[in-house]
Amino acid sequence: MAQQPKISAREIPFAVDQALIGEHPAIVKLRALIERVASTEVTVLITGESGTGKEVVAQAIHMLSSRSDQPFVPVNCAAIPHDLLESEMFGHERGAFTGAAGSRHGLLTTANRGTIFLDEIGEMPRGLQAKLLRVLEDGVVRPVGADRATRVDVRVIAASNVNLSDAVAKGAFREDLFYRLQVVPIVIAPLRERRSDIPLLADHFLDRIRGRTPGREISISREAMVALWSYDWPGNVRELENMVERLVILCEGSIIDTSMLPENLVASTRPATPPVKVKLSDGGVNLNNLVRELEGRLINDALKQTGGNKQAAARMLGLKRTTFSAKLRRCGVIAPASLDDSDEG
Ligand SMILES: Nc1ncnc2c1ncn2[C@@H]1O[C@H](COP(=O)(O)OP(=O)(O)OP(=O)(O)O)[C@@H](O)[C@H]1O
Ligand SMILES: [Mg+2]
Repeated sequence: MAQQPKISAREIPFAVDQALIGEHPAIVKLRALIERVASTEVTVLITGESGTGKEVVAQAIHMLSSRSDQPFVPVNCAAIPHDLLESEMFGHERGAFTGAAGSRHGLLTTANRGTIFLDEIGEMPRGLQAKLLRVLEDGVVRPVGADRATRVDVRVIAASNVNLSDAVAKGAFREDLFYRLQVVPIVIAPLRERRSDIPLLADHFLDRIRGRTPGREISISREAMVALWSYDWPGNVRELENMVERLVILCEGSIIDTSMLPENLVASTRPATPPVKVKLSDGGVNLNNLVRELEGRLINDALKQTGGNKQAAARMLGLKRTTFSAKLRRCGVIAPASLDDSDEG
C-alpha cells in the first residue's frame, strides 16, 4: 500500500477564522486588522478584559506573519517575580547574581527571528520598561551582568487587561514605552458587547468536545442558550468555554437544559427596566451612544423574556417587526440564528 505523505503542522495553512470564532462586526473587523498587521513588523498592543482572547489574537498575528516558522514565546509578566523577570527576559552571565552558576539565554534570545508575546505588560517594573524600550528602539539585548549587548530580531506583541493609559497617568508605566508599544492598538470587546456570538462560540466548544468524545450526542436547549446569551460573562470567552465543558460533564442526557445552569447564571439576568441615571457633567454626554445603549438593553431584556422570539419581543416594545430588526442590527445585539428560526417570515 502506498504510504500517505506526512503533512507537518507547518504545511497546513493557518486559518484565522478557525482560531478566532465570531461573526459579530467587532470580530470581523478584528480579524481584518489581524491580517493587516500580520504582514508588517509593527509592535502591537492588545487590550481586553481577562479571557477575551488576547493570546489567541497574538498567536494569530504570529501565525499569519513571515515569522510563523520561528518561535512564538509567551511571557506572563505578572506570573514571574519582579526580581527574576529581567534575567528571564534578557538572560544572565555566569556569576551575575547569587545562584547564577552558569550563563543563560533570555526569552528575548529564544524568540530571536520570531515573536515575543509580553502578556500583562502593565506588571513590568519600571526599570525593566527602560530596558525593553532599548530592545524596541535599537534591537539589542544586554544580559544581566554582561558588559556588551547583542543584537536580536524579535517582533514584540504586548497585552494588558487594564487600560495602560491609566497606568501612564499614574506614573506606573513609562509614557515613551506606551507609545512605542501601541503603534497599532488592538482592543478586544468583552463578550457581553458581542452577545450574538455566544451561541456560535458555545456550539464551537461543544463541537470540540464532540470531536474528543465520538458518539456523544449533546446539544444546548433553546431556553438554555437564551440564558447563556443574557448572562454578562465577566470572565468572557474563557468563562464560556469552561462553562460548556462543565455542563457537558454534568449533563447525563443529550440536551443541556436551563435547569442544569448554575444559579448565579440564571439569577444574574439584568432587570427588565434598566435604571437610567445620567448626570450631565461638564464634559457632557454622547446622547446617541446613551440612547443606543438603552435600546440595546431593552431589546436584550425583551428577547430574554420572550425566549428569543423576535416577533413577541417587538410587540413587547411596541415596535414593528422590521423596525425592531433594524434596531437589533444597529445596537449590535444581532439575534443569533439559533434564536431566530421560529418567527421568521
Ligand atoms: N474568538 C474566540 N474563538 C475561539 N476561542 C476563543 C476566542 N476567544 C477566546 N477563545 C478561547 O478562550 C480562552 C481564553 O483566551 P485567551 O487566553 O486568548 O484570553 P486572554 O485575553 O489572553 O485572557 P487573560 O487576560 O486571562 O490572559 C482560550 O481557551 C481561547 O482559546
Ligand atoms: Mg492571556
